[in-house]
Amino acid sequence: MGVRLIKISVIYFVIGVIIGYVMSIVHDHTLTGVHVHINLLGWTALTLAGIIYYLFPKLAANKLGLFHFWLHNLGLPIMMVSLTAMLLTNNTAFTGGVAVGATMILIGVLLFAFNVVKNLKLD
Ligand code: HEM
Ligand code: HEM
Repeated sequence: MGVRLIKISVIYFVIGVIIGYVMSIVHDHTLTGVHVHINLLGWTALTLAGIIYYLFPKLAANKLGLFHFWLHNLGLPIMMVSLTAMLLTNNTAFTGGVAVGATMILIGVLLFAFNVVKNLKLD
């Protein structure tokens, strides 16, 4: 799971950097919120989680790890696609999607934190 997360995270890295690059060229920062969270919740957070799961495989082998994996990986695209749609159209109807995705990520992160605190041991 660690390696899979690192591979997923570089896809977010590429997308996040492309958005930043295009925003700089066209001088339109409408999508700054998308750029920031794809880079930070996608690239940095998932890479760090991937490295932690790789170093401590027991964390990846339990239900907490599995739920974190799926909540984060389903929640982030839902949040980012909804946020992009909301920012580009100014239609607040997309807020629901942002909230659903963000809540999934939040629950995933809480499970991850609990897993680390409870099960991370040097052995
Ligand atoms: C070629 C790479 C990148 C380019 C061209 C780029 C470009 C930009 C641009 C144009 C903004 C908008 C600034 C604004 O609206 O005030 C921005 C904001 C931001 N970027 Fe990037 N970015 C790049 C890579 C990254 C990476 C890799 C990260 C994080 C891992 C990152 C994190 C941020 C953050 C946190 C902000 C918000 C800053 C603030 O709150 O004022 N960027 N970036
Ligand atoms: C589900 C989790 C998260 C939610 C719901 C969330 C939500 C938000 C919201 C509502 C804003 C204000 C946007 C605006 O004023 O335009 C924001 C800004 C920001 N967040 Fe998050 N955030 C989350 C996670 C994170 C994480 C994990 C990081 C860093 C590792 C982060 C870094 C930032 C930064 C740098 C900004 C300023 C961006 C800017 O200048 O527009 N966020 N976030």
